[in-house]
Amino acid sequence: MENIHPIFDQILKREDKENLLRQKGVVIWMIGLSGSGKSTLAKSLERTLFDKGHLTQILDGDNLRTGLNNNLGFSEEDRTENIRRVAEVAKLFANCGVVTICSFISPTEEIRQMAKAIIGNDLYYEVFVNCSLEVCEERDVKGLYAKARKGEIKNFTGIDSPFENPKHPNLELKTDVDSLEDCLSQLKESITQRIKIN
Ligand code: PPS
Repeated sequence: MENIHPIFDQILKREDKENLLRQKGVVIWMIGLSGSGKSTLAKSLERTLFDKGHLTQILDGDNLRTGLNNNLGFSEEDRTENIRRVAEVAKLFANCGVVTICSFISPTEEIRQMAKAIIGNDLYYEVFVNCSLEVCEERDVKGLYAKARKGEIKNFTGIDSPFENPKHPNLELKTDVDSLEDCLSQLKESITQRIKIN
């Protein structure tokens, strides 16, 4: 239309930024119990993508719960607010064309549906890092399960706070059955396809 100011032609879309970066923006939402291997997989995926020239950002407890979300604990309400804020931040990154890797327990279907609704169907890619509670507890990398069993930590996921397995993830990795290398190659393969510019 002739009365639309030319500035509107200059407004950048996600696609413009994706073309600049030669990749598709996406939010890879990694779900799983503490100790399931989410962070290890996220870091390794990021390194592989970076080495191939992709721009990525990891969002996890280390950079969110220590900063933006440092007023939140592990009640149902606080976990919901944690995930809500993370999803909003993730959406901003992905809309800049960045491959955004979120690593959060995200324990309930309700919480995950909220994240998906914020991010949008087209950007949300759910990865279930499936590892049984028994194996996570046996590994107990951070010693938190032992503390939770002794009652020193309350509301610990899988012990006295619920974890619901996701029903229809885009990808499921069984870190208690398959080797880490196998899980990594499944993850890298599917994400490489997902971020390819046609
Ligand atoms: S959530 O449920 O998605 O909001 O949790 P998240 O932000 O991913 O934080 C999980 C990490 O916090 C540590 N931690 C706990 N986890 C679960 N329950 C309780 N009560 C708890 N307290 C501290 C724990 O180290 C989790 O780290 P990961 O990397 O998942 O092992």
